[in-house]
Amino acid sequence: MSSLITLASGLAPLESWAPLAARKARMCDVARLLSLINGYAAKGIMLPRTEFEMSENIRDFTVVTGGPELVACGALHFYSPTAAEVRSVAVREGMKGRGVGKLLVEALDAEACEFGLESIFAFTYVPGFFHKLGYVEVDRGELPLKAWKDCLRCPKFQCCDETAMVKKLQSVQF
Ligand SMILES: CC(C)(COP(=O)(O)OP(=O)(O)OC[C@H]1O[C@@H](n2cnc3c(N)ncnc32)[C@H](O)[C@@H]1OP(=O)(O)O)[C@@H](O)C(=O)NCCC(=O)NCCS
Repeated sequence: MSSLITLASGLAPLESWAPLAARKARMCDVARLLSLINGYAAKGIMLPRTEFEMSENIRDFTVVTGGPELVACGALHFYSPTAAEVRSVAVREGMKGRGVGKLLVEALDAEACEFGLESIFAFTYVPGFFHKLGYVEVDRGELPLKAWKDCLRCPKFQCCDETAMVKKLQSVQF
């Protein structure tokens, strides 16, 4: 699965119009994925990931690339035969606000549909972004308990300010 858009970029390697494409991540992406995610984790807006976790879950990840550059990532993590979480969504600084996040999450939505899921959900500090992509706010009690396991290692466990959001899917039924 691959989605294509063409965007202007202010970043040096992409100073001209560069085609951006969403594709599944590969092991060669692990170092750059860690750099992107842990950069935001250091600012307290994402959970940090280790090389082991990233390697173990690499099949969850989709990346957006522009030429040789990795500009965004996100993951689809399955919890049940009908539901998955969209997580670890990050767009590189300098590339925000250009539709890259939308391209990425739409690729994850499409992947979820291919797997026949009924819904996808996210815990997020940016509900406005997910709202634009068709997600609606729900009580977190409506989401699978297992999805809370990451919360146990979150520094904000006792004072969580993330919003739970869900999107119903129109998946193909086989
Ligand atoms: C949140 C994030 C993924 C958005 O990516 P992006 O590439 O900047 O978003 P896009 O340009 O694709 O925006 C798509 C739509 O969402 C809107 N949007 C983007 N960020 C938003 C925000 N923080 N609040 C409200 N709306 C937002 C855009 O205005 C756009 O709306 P439009 O289609 O009407 O023009 C990006 O800012 C990011 O990586 N942030 C840091 C990490 C993070 O917070 N990740 C989320 C973890 S759940």
